[in-house]
Amino acid sequence: MKTPKRIQPLVEEGLVDEVLRQLMSGKEATVYVVRCENEIRCAKVYKEASQRSFKQAASYQEGRKVKNSRQARAMEKGTRYGRKMQEEVWQNAEVDALYKLAAAGVKVPKPYICFEGVLLMDLVTDADGNAAPRLNDVELSHTLALQYHAQLLQQVVLMLCAGVIHGDLSEFNILVDADGPVIIDLPQAIDAASNTEAAKMLDRDVTNLASYFGQFAPELNDTQYGKEIWKLYVAGELTPESKLTGHVAADTRPVNVGEVMKEIESAIFEEQERLRRMAEM
Ligand SMILES: Nc1ncnc2c1ncn2[C@@H]1O[C@H](COP(=O)(O)OP(=O)(O)OP(=O)(O)O)[C@@H](O)[C@H]1O
Ligand SMILES: [Mg+2]
Repeated sequence: MKTPKRIQPLVEEGLVDEVLRQLMSGKEATVYVVRCENEIRCAKVYKEASQRSFKQAASYQEGRKVKNSRQARAMEKGTRYGRKMQEEVWQNAEVDALYKLAAAGVKVPKPYICFEGVLLMDLVTDADGNAAPRLNDVELSHTLALQYHAQLLQQVVLMLCAGVIHGDLSEFNILVDADGPVIIDLPQAIDAASNTEAAKMLDRDVTNLASYFGQFAPELNDTQYGKEIWKLYVAGELTPESKLTGHVAADTRPVNVGEVMKEIESAIFEEQERLRRMAEM
């Protein structure tokens, strides 16, 4: 096909030889199948910031590292330079996460480069060499659902051991190749150690898996793998070999009512102070 304008710079640099076809146009990106010498790869062209959706919300940005404080200040102020920096941080986040996860043994498409807002990576394929289907489009038996669920939990644990939470894990961001599930779509990946919403994000990712596979294997519906994994992680006990049960022991320690009342009173006091200050202004 005719080379799309956004891929032209990669052709000029000799990174891509030919664009074969468009694979998908999603919320955040358009994905093409390309040829690089004699290899078939995948080029993900990120949309401009204005056309993207939710993933740039503050909770995803939190804890993202930038090179220096001048960049950080510019990004906060939203100057033109700041917006450009933010765009670069966003575009490089996925290639960075892919490199990190591949090194940690997580099954993700092998990344090559992110150049001019285009991520070049391996094309995930099915047994016939065609682009792999999304998990959502695969027919599942009870046994296969349990098997894929277990394989994906293992991947989530490996990711967290590498300090990363996917943040948007669902049946639409998982492909199925000849050996099983492959996690994709990571521009919003979260730094587990520095993001204050990490526990919530992990739990949401893991609950998404349980609800999806729970349609085929209902026993998954009342599992709590997310909470169990997070508890081990926080205690510094999570390893790729951790044995999971899907259940966490209820906290049976007696509640200190006096302490709870003190917390409530101090919150009320703070709020009253805030209202008083506002009234004075
Ligand atoms: N490495 C890959 N190999 C094969 N197919 C891929 C690959 N990366 C992406 N795709 C295909 O392109 C689709 C969109 O990719 P991705 O999810 O990364 O982008 P997105 O813009 O977030 O899309 P969406 O909004 O649909 O989630 C995927 O669902 C998948 O079908
Ligand atoms: Mg996606």
